[in-house]
Amino acid sequence: MSHIYLDHAATTPLHESVQEQMTSVMQNHFGNPSSIHFFGRDSRKLLDQARTTIAKSINAPFTSLIFTSGGTEANNLAIFGSAYANEQYGRHIITTQIEHHAVLHPCERLESEGFDVTYLPVDETGQVDLNQLKEALRDDTILVTIMSVNNEVGVIQPIQEIGELLEEHQAVFHTDAVQAYGVQQIDVQEMKVDLLTASSHKIYGPKGVGFLYKHEKHHLKQQVFGGEQERKWRSGTENTLAIAGFEQAVKVLMEERESRNTHYQALFNELIAQLEKQEMEFSINGDLNNRVSNIVNISFPKTEVEMFLTNLDLAGIAVSSGSACTAGSIDPSHVLKAMYGEEDERLYNSIRFSFGIHNTLDEMKQVAEKIQPIVERLKSLS
Ligand SMILES: Cc1ncc(COP(=O)(O)O)c(C=O)c1O
Repeated sequence: MSHIYLDHAATTPLHESVQEQMTSVMQNHFGNPSSIHFFGRDSRKLLDQARTTIAKSINAPFTSLIFTSGGTEANNLAIFGSAYANEQYGRHIITTQIEHHAVLHPCERLESEGFDVTYLPVDETGQVDLNQLKEALRDDTILVTIMSVNNEVGVIQPIQEIGELLEEHQAVFHTDAVQAYGVQQIDVQEMKVDLLTASSHKIYGPKGVGFLYKHEKHHLKQQVFGGEQERKWRSGTENTLAIAGFEQAVKVLMEERESRNTHYQALFNELIAQLEKQEMEFSINGDLNNRVSNIVNISFPKTEVEMFLTNLDLAGIAVSSGSACTAGSIDPSHVLKAMYGEEDERLYNSIRFSFGIHNTLDEMKQVAEKIQPIVERLKSLS
């Protein structure tokens, strides 16, 4: 059976050129970039090159990137690092109810330590309201952390407007741009963000590497102690192999982002057209006019998500839902809960499709054809 992978928001395969680059680095460059001899200098050169390429991709200075083990660590460093560095100015933090757990859980941890956290709600479109943000801002707010693009529904947040709003405020502005980096042009100057998180494995690079961009005027409390790597913001011998792979993924991304977006939009249009052709009942979660091209979250009334996902997997289609299945019961998505409330049936019948560069229009047709009988069967059981 052939498999169709439509879960690129979870992770992407390595780009072929990334595989080649990493193989070459693995074979030819092993030195520790902190060593002063030839082998160390050789790896340092690779690291510097990668930092230059990646910093340029977000219009940031070379010295502003802190390489981390991925998006999760970068978010943790941004949140704990700025909360502890600035607590003398206040202990209030603002975030949203629809953040990734790599933001929500650090915020909850800070709450347990006595910080006060406001979780901004969203409406059915999935967007935060700037007026609600304005109302929530206080003199003692030290950090605002709001994601650029939501990983479950693909909704885009008004990051630049938020950046402008916060320009005159003491609060540090962090955005988790893990899902944005692959599809949106990122310019940290224009966006007026102080901290920004990205991750390599969502853009056809290797897993286990990402970065935190940090504006030079901001201080973070160090979270990992040891050597003086990453200007002491993050100790530990740099993962040169993964960072070199990440750089190659960024190089290709810079060349292809626009054409990838066109391709993703075509896949989206085709999937919707094919589902309609199958005369299926469905609705799209979130604002259709304010979403990224590669993620769509669709509700199929009268189906049940856990059985749906299992049936799709058996049919060779890999997708996901935001709900976590724990010990046989479903914990519905906190994102859909924030958008629709606790009782809405969309919490229990929604599926995320996320497109990638290798998907074809014909696959979208196959997916719709395979989904149709599954939905009919599940509806008859409901
Ligand atoms: C929005 C968002 N933030 C953070 C992360 C975590 O990134 P990583 O897997 O690199 O730790 C993810 C990954 O799913 C994500 O989608």
